[in-house]
Amino acid sequence: MREKRKPAEERTLKTLERVLSKAGLASRTIARGWIGAGRVAVNRRTVRDPDHWVDPHRDRITLDGKALRSAAKTYILLYKPKGYLTTRKDPEGRPTVYDLTSGAGMWLSPVGRLDLDTSGLLLMTNDTDFAERIANPQHKAPKTYQLKAATLLSDEQIAQLRRGIELTDGPTRPAEVNRLRDRGKHTFLEMTITEGRNRQVRRMIDAVGSKVLKLVRVAIGPIRIGDLQIGKWRHLTNAELRVLMGPRDNAP
Ligand code: URA
Repeated sequence: MREKRKPAEERTLKTLERVLSKAGLASRTIARGWIGAGRVAVNRRTVRDPDHWVDPHRDRITLDGKALRSAAKTYILLYKPKGYLTTRKDPEGRPTVYDLTSGAGMWLSPVGRLDLDTSGLLLMTNDTDFAERIANPQHKAPKTYQLKAATLLSDEQIAQLRRGIELTDGPTRPAEVNRLRDRGKHTFLEMTITEGRNRQVRRMIDAVGSKVLKLVRVAIGPIRIGDLQIGKWRHLTNAELRVLMGPRDNAP
């Protein structure tokens, strides 16, 4: 569908849907549902078009008759277990990360995603700017994984991972790779990558001729999962947030 043109002289305008999601109240999809259901009014008139332009500073926007207020910005760190989807709903009824975070008391969206079979650190927030910044590959937020490979890996295979691997969607950036141990027929590695491509770690290990048997994300930047129990979440500390947000002036 073609996007409606925004009048050039009205640069501060935003779509109604965006104003609701920016306020941290709902995902854009949910916001569209609320608007379509007639729950949102602009200057006392119900508006059912999510792409309706509004001036958030001048227009009086209400949800269920109450003035729109931004939700407090919330940032949590979840220890996602294997077997949980990083989506809101699953047509097959499998468990999702939302089953574990309802206690956070508000709508939160995952920052990036972890595969169904991957466990570990997942950030969730209602701050859409923060989420976009951390998930954006340009930001190069380092993500650290520990994995168990199906085979023993040679120094040459590890060197290939470090240099970067040619995948079907292009070469990966160089990775930091440390051999944690070899046990029986398996090598255990810690790998830090600065991209977040679909199934990237699994595809990199496939490309050097092995397979991932177990994958856990243990850190994003300096934020580590620590001793948080699997399936539990905690709020990020202010110090952790400051580090993740980084120097805004240098943002690309
Ligand atoms: N790489 C993967 O292969 N899977 C994940 O879930 C995350 C990174």
